Amino acid sequence: MSPSEPLDSLQFGWEEWIGLPKLGVPAIKAKVDTGARTSALHAFDIETFGPASRPKVRFTLHPIPGRDDLVIPCSATIIDRRDVTSSNGESESRFVIETLMSVNGDRWPIEITLTNRHGMASRMLLGRQALKDHISIVATDRFLQPELSYDVYSTSKMRSEAPDRALRIAVLSREDNYSTRRLVEEGEKRGHTVEVVNTTRCYMAINAMAPEVHYDGKRLPRFDAVIPRIGASITPYGAAILRQFETIGTYCVNGSAGIVASRDKLHAHQIMARAKIGMPNTAFAASPRDTGNIIALVGTAPLIVKLLESTQGKGVVLAETKKAAESVIDAFRGLKANFLVQDFVKEAAGEDIRCLVIGGKVVASMKRTGAEGDFRSNLHRGGSAKSVRITKEERDTALRAARAFNLNMAGVDLLRAEKGPKVLEVNSSPGFEGIEGSTGKNIVGKLYDTIEARVRPAPIRKRKAN
Ligand SMILES: Nc1ncnc2c1ncn2[C@@H]1O[C@H](COP(=O)(O)OP(=O)(O)OP(=O)(O)O)[C@@H](O)[C@H]1O
Ligand SMILES: [Mg+2]
Repeated sequence: MSPSEPLDSLQFGWEEWIGLPKLGVPAIKAKVDTGARTSALHAFDIETFGPASRPKVRFTLHPIPGRDDLVIPCSATIIDRRDVTSSNGESESRFVIETLMSVNGDRWPIEITLTNRHGMASRMLLGRQALKDHISIVATDRFLQPELSYDVYSTSKMRSEAPDRALRIAVLSREDNYSTRRLVEEGEKRGHTVEVVNTTRCYMAINAMAPEVHYDGKRLPRFDAVIPRIGASITPYGAAILRQFETIGTYCVNGSAGIVASRDKLHAHQIMARAKIGMPNTAFAASPRDTGNIIALVGTAPLIVKLLESTQGKGVVLAETKKAAESVIDAFRGLKANFLVQDFVKEAAGEDIRCLVIGGKVVASMKRTGAEGDFRSNLHRGGSAKSVRITKEERDTALRAARAFNLNMAGVDLLRAEKGPKVLEVNSSPGFEGIEGSTGKNIVGKLYDTIEARVRPAPIRKRKAN
């Protein structure tokens, strides 16, 4: 029913159950306060964000008195700021938002001021503006409208019925590249505020009571989610910043532990081996005396010798013969470089497959083919990419690999070997340009889908309300 249609008369007592559907509040008790014009809501952590031209406010609600474990995170556009004098005579400047109020199957827009004054005994006061003309007040009675129950907060329904709200998201990145730009663009399209935070310019006080992250002389706000895009060269520092966010309790799309483990090629191979994920035979040694043995461990030539710090295919060498492998290894040793030796998966023929995993699903996959005559398929080396259909086995392998590192988002690179998929690498900051370009899919949108689902309020355990 539209708000302008005439309604039958409603009777309100001095206290009624109502809902605030646009805030994700299915049931709350409100006291009628005809002495006030605008309604008031007892809100916590009130904080503004978003562009100055269209500022928003974020706050949390504890709709059940005495149950602070029930937290409903809300956001709304600010429509005004007003000085409100409360019943004890104190004046306070409050943000005003507009939202819907629902009663007995009917709903209409109301204005609400936000306050976290502890003096406010009730979670909500209904002012004259909310009490439309057709409502008559029976001041001696209460609950004249259908009674609701707090039990709804213990059901999963509350998560599924939570409305979309504007989130405040940080992208930890130092680069202004396609991926960073897409994260900002797609997030803003969905009404979120996305801030790019340069990881190396973050600093922090490490203490037990009040862990926080600082940036540009200020403490960073509470973010709903952090999307780490930490470059390989700053992994340790980036991971430390991310751990700080984890300590605060901020949802991080990928955790610091998974990022660090995936970046360390040896550690990554050990984790994958333990999870029984197929990968090329790999060996590693630290002492020059073992050159012959290390080759024997992997098998016979041709072999791949890979610098551990390699990216973009730069430190990946194919040694066609045992002799060639020995000289490459000796050369790397002379440079004090760390490397590993790997079985050459010949049948992959200069092609690898990038599976993009987001939220436990392979959302896209592409085949990368190396430039003519190159066994390396890196796009940076002139390779080309196109969308590819993967087998169930490849899908399962990619998912298991992402799960082994506890990564919510991962680019899993695998080779199509005779004996099934062999994982080369799990990338915790996969680029979006190649995969969105070759598959035509909105991958960043899928990432936001999982973030939005993840930051919804959680149902609480049922217990007698006070
Ligand atoms: N064992 C192997 N057998 C066959 N081809 C391989 C093997 N290892 C790597 N390649 C080819 O070389 C390319 C580059 O190797 P890899 O991805 O391991 O190193 P990188 O790209 O330099 O490092 P990173 O992917 O960690 O940034 C792969 O994409 C693949 O095409
Ligand atoms: Mg690679």
